[in-house]
Amino acid sequence: MSSFDSHDSVALVTGAGRKNGIGKGIVDALLAAGARKVYVGVRNRAASASIYPQQDGRVQLVELDVTEGGRAEAVAGELGDVNLLVHNAGLFTGASALGDDADQRREFEVNVFGPLALTRAFAPVLKRNGGGAIVLLNSVASHFSFPLGASYSASKAALHSFTQALRRELAAQGTHVLGVYPGPIDTDMAEKIDMPKTSATEVGRRIVAALRDGEEDLLPDDTGAQMYAGFRADPKAFERGLAAGA
Ligand SMILES: NC(=O)c1ccc[n+]([C@@H]2O[C@H](COP(=O)([O-])OP(=O)(O)OC[C@H]3O[C@@H](n4cnc5c(N)ncnc54)[C@H](OP(=O)(O)O)[C@@H]3O)[C@@H](O)[C@H]2O)c1
Repeated sequence: MSSFDSHDSVALVTGAGRKNGIGKGIVDALLAAGARKVYVGVRNRAASASIYPQQDGRVQLVELDVTEGGRAEAVAGELGDVNLLVHNAGLFTGASALGDDADQRREFEVNVFGPLALTRAFAPVLKRNGGGAIVLLNSVASHFSFPLGASYSASKAALHSFTQALRRELAAQGTHVLGVYPGPIDTDMAEKIDMPKTSATEVGRRIVAALRDGEEDLLPDDTGAQMYAGFRADPKAFERGLAAGA
């Protein structure tokens, strides 16, 4: 069984420019675990600079929009020491299945094609650096269609399928692949969700621990874990419950 020790690692965490985001929680957990360097992916360096004020010499902000064509190869060329790639950037528009086509496409660009392009570009880097690991922020909604975001759920279902495929395809080069399936986490994305939420800080810690323990699938919070257990117990009843607003 493969695993990944974050001590002395060199990580790239995408979409980590918000002060209460899961990305920041992951960056902090990696630094606490003794990471050698963390490249913090942000869309706007000036807007996010104040979020990492300590100027920890191990933190380096990198401008990275995961949907920007060609940027993945350029960044992989610049950051040749990365051995941990964390796909955290994500978009939730709330688009329904019959909703806005442009919103649906943007969600798939950020949540699916962005991580795929970046993984394609970084796979040889990880290989050169001993295999390393990839973390993909899926969602418990990868497993069922969450009414508040049908298009978001579909994009995360696609990412879940690619997570399994990447684990298979990257096994030969020794890259560990961890899929993370959160329920509601206390960030901007979930601000309209009225359910018990776990902090991004706690999610970051659990991701680092899951990497160390060699886990492949992580349900990082209690609410999400309960939802997943309900789904597994009776998928059809769970689907009907969601449709009825339970
Ligand atoms: N919060 C939850 O309840 C929850 C549950 C399940 C899964 N997740 C997943 O966990 C991850 C982090 O979510 P979060 O709650 O921390 O969300 P968040 O607070 O909304 O932060 C999302 C981050 O993604 C960045 N981003 C969006 N589009 C991007 C792009 N094209 N290129 C690069 N970065 C981009 C945003 O950058 P800007 O700051 O520049 O907008 C932001 O920093 C996401 O993948 C999300 O789907 C979250």
